[in-house]
Amino acid sequence: MSQLLEKIDKSHLPRHIAIIMDGNGRWAKEQGQDRLFGHFHGVESVRNIVEGCAELGIEYLTLYAFSTENWDRPEYEVVGLMELLVNTIRQEAETLHKNNIRLHVIGDMSMLPEYAKKELGEALEMTKNNTGLNLVMALSYSGRWELLNAVKNIAHEVKEGRLNVEAINQDVLQRFLTTSNFPDPELMIRTSGEYRISNFLLYQLAYAELYFTHVRWPDFRKENLYEAIVDFQGRERRFGKTGEQVSKESVSH
Ligand code: IPE
Ligand code: IPE
Ligand code: MG
Repeated sequence: MSQLLEKIDKSHLPRHIAIIMDGNGRWAKEQGQDRLFGHFHGVESVRNIVEGCAELGIEYLTLYAFSTENWDRPEYEVVGLMELLVNTIRQEAETLHKNNIRLHVIGDMSMLPEYAKKELGEALEMTKNNTGLNLVMALSYSGRWELLNAVKNIAHEVKEGRLNVEAINQDVLQRFLTTSNFPDPELMIRTSGEYRISNFLLYQLAYAELYFTHVRWPDFRKENLYEAIVDFQGRERRFGKTGEQVSKESVSH
């Protein structure tokens, strides 16, 4: 068994891990290949990390696969990514199902081509009663898109008389987010050596621990995930309180 895996405290796992899977294009270029070659290899990392999270008993894994802004990439790359997405879902849906994994999708589905919507819909339906890992794919997603959408829908509810302005609190806002059924991520990992959020889960990451690695996504494997979790477990999460308050609380728990 891996030494890193042994170091993980199984009683203090993050419930929700979110990952910005970045660096496919550079990984491919470094090998003199086309960017799509990198995306293709990134799928193997997705498989490996989904398996790793399921084995550990992580409850939620959110993968940022395609941002709202990624629609502005060259057409051949967008088309290539959509095809890869559809083929992967088609090939993997059964495996997810067998492993009791439930698939979810967050993002602006209206932007996706019909054939992608159909394939995704089938996989969502197939896995909807599964009770193991919740795999959340962020597709055509951006935090600003989500917040804008929430604001519009809340305004609509107020206008229709179903919601009082005074009753709007954080719980209500949470209900209007695409992640309303998931806890906030405790750990956010970004690969490829970029230190930014790139419009990912802007509201939900408020108190997430951020972990950045230079490893490009196509090279990211379970060992790298374990490393991130061990790092996470060594941190003190204070949520605005003092270190003394936090250590007292952890003794009394
Ligand atoms: C991440 O890799 C995958 C997507 C954004 C779809 P990139 O395609 O962003 O790869 P780099 O960052 O250009 O290397
Ligand atoms: C973020 O990566 C989106 C995904 C990984 C899906 P980008 O490669 O699009 O982000 P920037 O452009 O480097 O900020
Ligand atoms: Mg990138």
